[in-house]
Parts: sequence; structure tokens; C-alpha cells
Amino acid sequence: MYKIGRNDRCWCGSGKKYKVCHEKSDEGNMAKYVLEGYTIPDRSLILDPDRIEGIRKSSKVSIAIMDAIGEMIGEGVSTDEIDQLVYKMTKEAGGIPAPLNYEGFPKSCCTSINDVICHGIPDDTRLKNGDIINVDVTTILDGYYSDMSRMYLIGDVAQEAKDLCERTKEMMFAGINAIKPYTPVAEIGNVIHDIADKYHYGVVRALSGHGVGIGFHLEPVVNHYRSKKKSMILVPGMVLTVEPMINMGNFECDILDDDWTVVTRDGSLSAQWEHTVVVTETGVEILTI
Ligand code: MF3
Ligand code: CO
Ligand code: CO
Repeated sequence: MYKIGRNDRCWCGSGKKYKVCHEKSDEGNMAKYVLEGYTIPDRSLILDPDRIEGIRKSSKVSIAIMDAIGEMIGEGVSTDEIDQLVYKMTKEAGGIPAPLNYEGFPKSCCTSINDVICHGIPDDTRLKNGDIINVDVTTILDGYYSDMSRMYLIGDVAQEAKDLCERTKEMMFAGINAIKPYTPVAEIGNVIHDIADKYHYGVVRALSGHGVGIGFHLEPVVNHYRSKKKSMILVPGMVLTVEPMINMGNFECDILDDDWTVVTRDGSLSAQWEHTVVVTETGVEILTI
């Protein structure tokens, strides 16, 4: 096995010698990965503790908003009313709702009901008994982004729909727990896909998780499906989302004429959960919890 020289420049691009930079933490593994064809993260993706603290503060706002939605949501509530709550709470906290005007998106959060996979646009639609809905909130606070989503159940929800929501959460946590420093990011999708197969669910492929924190959608791409491709290696200080979209039917999707709303092609229900996490020296820490 090739080993990087102690006096060589570090793989991370710091310009420092390897021995005074990442030698201790990665035990020479990075050089092996480079030779095997994996992607090494750009230095800009490795955040220092101050910036991680900024994302943690932003996350606190996102969490408070999600909790407040849990209190007000129910049968008869419109998705516009949810959107207004997100806007108001974000502003009161001194933040900016990242979705608003993002690439032309017209509202402050995404509200995705039943067969809507993601990017549903809040409007005057009122929630009905038995609906399942994902609300996705991204807060920018002092320039730091935190991105999270949860499922909410409206009234009496069919057991199979409840199961879908619960198991999608289980898959998100399994994906998160697969994160360790010096592990390829594709491991997340491998773990999630194995569980989805067990339940005969479809794993959405067209949309992915992403690096986040000092921007909205950064590297790496976090796929939730199985892949043997040589992906990016995760290292301490990287911040990313894990946000599996899981369909009761197959994985295929369509985009509606509004150019945003993503729906299941077969009309089956879809669920999603999302957290923002940071890779640590020993594993992973969830910031939006
Ligand atoms: N919050 C979504 C994500 O998890 C992105 C929404 S983009 C928007 O990445 F424009 F639709 F808001
Ligand atoms: Co996201
Ligand atoms: Co999101």
C-alpha cells in the first residue's frame, strides 16, 4: 500500500506538511483513497469549530420552527398558514428563510403532501384527515444554513402510511449512523437502500442530500440509493444533509408544470426526513436535533 510521505504536502490542500496536518487523524488512509480513485473533499468543505457553531445556532431556529409547526398543524390548516409561520418565526429570530426566492421558489418552506415527494409549494390547500405532510425548513442565520424536514400526520392516518413515515425516519438515522470519518459518502445510500429493500419501498434517485452550512446546496452529493461508484471521502468538519425520500411504490418521479413540485409517477405515497449533520473525529453529530 502506498503511504504518503510525512514531509509531503497534505492531501487536504492546506499547503502544510502532512506530518503537521492530517497525518495523526487519518493514519495515512487518504493517500490510499486517492490512489483508488475516490474524491478528496476540497479544503473549503472542511469547516472550523467557529463556523460549525454558527450552523448550530441556525439549527436552533430551524428546530424551534419545526416544533411550532407541530403545535399548530392539523386538519383544516392551509399550507400557506404553515409558510406564514415559518416566515414570521425566521424573521423574528433575525434569520432569512433560504427557500424564499431561491432559484425562483416563491415561498419560505416546502410543504409536500401525500404523493408529493418534495418541493411542494405552500398555497391555499387545506390539510385533510388522513394526510401525511413533509415540511422542509432551511434557515440562514448570520450567513449559516441549517436544513431539516419532518413528517406530520393529520388526524387518523392509515397504518401503512404511518409505517412509511416511521420507517423513513429509521432509514434517515441509519444513513446518519453510517457516517464515520474517512468513509465514502456513498456508504449512506448503501445502508438506506438495504433497509428500503426489506420493506419493498422505492428510493428516490433524482434528488439527493448535499453539503450545507456556508451555502445551501454544496458538495458532496449525498445519494440515498445504492452505488458502487467511488464517491467523496468524508472527513471531520464536513457538514451535510441526510434526507432520504422513500416511496411506497417505485422510485420514479415527475415534476409538475409549476417546475418545482416533485410527485411519485405511480401516485403512491412518499415520505422524507432530513437532518443537517457534521462529521466529527469519532463519527457524526446531528446539528438539527
Ligand atoms: N430544503 C430543500 C433541501 O432539502 C431544498 C428546497 S429548495 C426550494 O435541499 F427552493 F424548493 F426551497
Ligand atoms: Co436539504
Ligand atoms: Co431541506
